[in-house]
Order: sequence, then C-alpha cells, then structure tokens
Amino acid sequence: MNIVLMGYMGSGKSLIGRELAKKINFKYLDLDDFIEVKEKKSIANIFKEKGEIYFRKKESQYLKEVLETYNKSIISLGGGTPCFADNLEILKQESITSIYLQTSLDELTKRLFEERSKRPLISHLQKKEDLKDFIRKHLFERSFYYNQGDLKVSTDAKNVNQVTEE
Ligand code: S3P
Repeated sequence: MNIVLMGYMGSGKSLIGRELAKKINFKYLDLDDFIEVKEKKSIANIFKEKGEIYFRKKESQYLKEVLETYNKSIISLGGGTPCFADNLEILKQESITSIYLQTSLDELTKRLFEERSKRPLISHLQKKEDLKDFIRKHLFERSFYYNQGDLKVSTDAKNVNQVTEE
C-alpha cells in the first residue's frame, strides 16, 4: 500500500511528504525527483528541451513504475500528475490512499511568487497579479481532479507539524 500526496505547486507536497514518512515510518519518494534522475535532466530542462507533451508522457510512465516498484511509501506527485493521461484512474487503485493538500489562491500566489523561477509553467510571469490570474484559472481546471482524492487536508494557516498530524 502507498500514500500519494497531490495538490497544486506550492501546496507543500514534498515538505509534508517527508515529515509524514518519518512519522509513520514509510519510505519517501518525490515523483519529480524520480523523473529527473531517470531522464538525467531537471524538470525545467525537460520542459525547455522536449516540451510539455513529452514531460506528461514520461510523468505517466514513471508514475506507474513507481507505484509498481514501491510499497509502504509516501509519494509526492507533481502538481499536474492527477490531471493527465489515465493517471487519476491509476491513483484510484485500492492499494493507494490519495491525499489532496488544499491551499488557497492567496496563499499559493504568495508562496509561488518567490519560487517561480524553477517552475517552467509559471517562470515567465513577472507580475504578482498575472501569476494570481494564472493560478486561479489553473486551480479551477485542476480542482476537479484533486477533489477526487480519498482525503483532503487544508494547509492554510497551519504549520508543517499541524498538517502532518492531521
Ligand atoms: C507541474 C508541477 C511541478 C512539476 C512540473 C509541472 C504542474 O511539480 O511536475 O513543473 O503541472 O503543476 P510541483 O507541484 O512539485 O512543483
């Protein structure tokens, strides 16, 4: 059995995933890191050199590989993982518990504005208002997928410990 964390960029999937794994004595794995190792390239460079369609194909392929290979693991997905190919169906397997880390638009905008340079989908957005508009639209599309998680935990106004505990 595995636990997957899903949610928008900046929702804390990696941070919470690491803490949760320690707490319940599971292994921890980050799907983006796994992709970078396998492809021998950063996510930003995969987007730049091969494009998003290539990235989505690989993301789906490695998601399956990870779920088949690992057990008793916390797996942090990429923000878009549940929304492409047949990934959502794969994530609905009985052996997987999926948790949606839900973060508000204002909080995501605040967190992502500082760290947007390493994220290829938002790195071109220079103004905070433009970033907020982008996230609003994206969240509207993606919430449909995130909301199909088995559990939902809000991360607003909580520290890492509180979210992990919940
Ligand atoms: C993406 C989120 C990123 C990474 C890629 C695409 C997305 O992961 O997979 O840049 O589509 O939201 P994080 O959510 O870990 O930043």
